[in-house]
Amino acid sequence: MAQPTKSVLLIISGGIAAYKSLELIRLFKKDGIGVQTILTKSGAEFVTPLSIQALSGNKVYQDLWDLTAESEMGHIELSRAADLILVAPATANILAKMTHGIADDLATTCLLATNKPVIAAPAMNVKMWENAATQDNIATLKKRGIDIIQPEEGDMACGEYGEGRLPDPETIFSIVKKKLNPETLPLHGKIAFVTAGPTYEAIDPVRFIGNHSSGKQGYAIAEALRDAGAEVTLISGPTRLQDPHGVKTVHVTSAQEMLDASLERIDSDIAICTAAVSDWRSTEPADQKIKKQTGADAPTLVLTENPDILATISKHKSRPALVIGFAAETQEAEKNAKEKLLKKGCDWIIANEISITNPVFGQDTNTAALITRNGVEESWKTQTKVDIARKIVEKTALFFYQGSTADTSWQDNKERA
Ligand code: CTP
Repeated sequence: MAQPTKSVLLIISGGIAAYKSLELIRLFKKDGIGVQTILTKSGAEFVTPLSIQALSGNKVYQDLWDLTAESEMGHIELSRAADLILVAPATANILAKMTHGIADDLATTCLLATNKPVIAAPAMNVKMWENAATQDNIATLKKRGIDIIQPEEGDMACGEYGEGRLPDPETIFSIVKKKLNPETLPLHGKIAFVTAGPTYEAIDPVRFIGNHSSGKQGYAIAEALRDAGAEVTLISGPTRLQDPHGVKTVHVTSAQEMLDASLERIDSDIAICTAAVSDWRSTEPADQKIKKQTGADAPTLVLTENPDILATISKHKSRPALVIGFAAETQEAEKNAKEKLLKKGCDWIIANEISITNPVFGQDTNTAALITRNGVEESWKTQTKVDIARKIVEKTALFFYQGSTADTSWQDNKERA
């Protein structure tokens, strides 16, 4: 029989959903993906090593001390031999251990020792899932680049209802398969950059002209482009956000720096300008802190218009194939956005109407419309910036695959946060 070209190390931790991992093993095998398994002590309360071994065709690893006898594969080798590690189901306990680097059994030792991608599929009671401790652990693991498969909502084995169920084996299988084969992602091979956040224009060494942009929408777009397989640079003004994993983040302060960083990447395929660029800068920023002179006239600030980054990119002879801008408007969003699109020369503009019900700045949600030269292409009701980002990237993928039926299933079960 031919050797499997890809292989997975499956860690089965204790939980009622452990039975689903048997079906998962069957799906991997059927697809020609090799499976090694580690069964934790509590996992063995739910499924037997014998059934796993029969399905995977390989020995089931359970004990660290068996391995370290080194008569067979050592734990370091086991943690690195497969192309990725999948923890399914992942209990609250194993997620907590992963977060804190605890290595007190074979599974957690391999997770600490591996140099391969890790995907975890949590499954637990709804209250355990919602607990701040679990949510903090999930956030930390994601920050470190571990992919988390969002648990589903439904009836629980314990009789409660809510989020915490392990998704179907087919769903987990398809997510793992995409991770094993990144060339199947719709934007694989495409290069993108995203501008995000505010710019700060110095008045003197301690004061600046800035705005309330949080950068959340731009960061979410950078992550969605990454998930779709693009090579992404995020050009970010000052924000409080963490650099996204798997994205090159370039930190800038002023509009001029943001423009310079954008022009360095002008030969990209995609540019998305979400930044709230300061329209003006101080003509002559003071070298020293401007002192207050009580009783004297307040100093006058002389302003110069900043370069328009979106317009410069759009009109550049080596411009990306797709240039997308944003338009934050307080009135007649669609009309003003269309005018902006024509004036700046970008291909699409995402219009946000800023209002009391859609404050946009700093919020986790947004209401937006996608506008092309032909007018409103789509309107998106209020939803998370993460979901808006996915919709923009979905349309972007379609732009590059026009004429063919674009496959958007790569977004399946990505976190709905
Ligand atoms: N933009 C830019 N460089 C600037 C100003 C804006 O790249 N100097 C981009 C923004 O990133 C956004 C789009 O242009 O994609 C529209 O920004 P917006 O602030 O809505 O428009 P302005 O051009 O600044 O016009 P106004 O403030 O008058 O509405």
